[in-house]
Amino acid sequence: MSVNKEVKRMTTHVIQAMKEQGEKITMLTAYDFSMARILDEAGIDVLLVGDSASNVMAGHETTLPITLDQMIYHASSVVRAVGRALVVVDLPFGSYQGNSRIALESTIRIMKESGAHAVKLEGGAEIQESIKRILSAGVPVMGHLGLTPQSIYKFGTYTVRAREEAEAAKLLEDARLLQELGCFAIVLEKIPAKLAKQVAQSVDIPVIGIGAGPDVDGQVLVSHDLLGITKDFQPRFLRRYLDLFEEIKGAAEQYAKDVRTGSFPNEKEQY
Ligand code: KIV
Repeated sequence: MSVNKEVKRMTTHVIQAMKEQGEKITMLTAYDFSMARILDEAGIDVLLVGDSASNVMAGHETTLPITLDQMIYHASSVVRAVGRALVVVDLPFGSYQGNSRIALESTIRIMKESGAHAVKLEGGAEIQESIKRILSAGVPVMGHLGLTPQSIYKFGTYTVRAREEAEAAKLLEDARLLQELGCFAIVLEKIPAKLAKQVAQSVDIPVIGIGAGPDVDGQVLVSHDLLGITKDFQPRFLRRYLDLFEEIKGAAEQYAKDVRTGSFPNEKEQY
């Protein structure tokens, strides 16, 4: 029997046991009640209330504008829907970087006001004081290395990270540091598969990849990308399982036609 099928509720300990037993971890983003309910019923292990909500839900070009209040709103909607998944919430840009006290205050607001189970922060050594302080309050922390979208203006592009030796070495060092600090898992975004494999083998905590190849402990995607609701985002790592943009558009067009021709509502669809 697999670890994950035996449990009624996912915890960081179950995620750890899954790594130890070589069982892959599934993670998807969720930002609202209805979608979270579907993904939870589908048995997705971890739901990430990602700051990608800034792009996907609010239409911003980057993840930088989303606020702590907005993240709490999305997170509390997801928590209300979930019976089994572990709910992890991104600390948004500006809520943790420069000052560990502010990082802890932001985290406490997320945990108290949304009921989520853990937080995710982007970065390594630069944010270690914030990570330590959050962990000292008993809140599980997920790290995020590689392409960290909150630093897009430093990178200048969303291209693959850590192709160069120096950046790859720093990433490996940061992954070890995150483990040492006490993070329960690490997301690796858009880095060479070979490096991701090396990271996953070098740390004992679960490593979850997005655009990081198959040799990690689990995979994460933005749900709206996987479902084909977003249209213009076409990175090589993305597998689209549906084309909901066209499906929803088709349904809306049919509805408009039915209303305009008077065929909706019919005799059975009224009181
Ligand atoms: O915000 C997000 O959706 C993320 C994933 C891409 C890992 O951080």
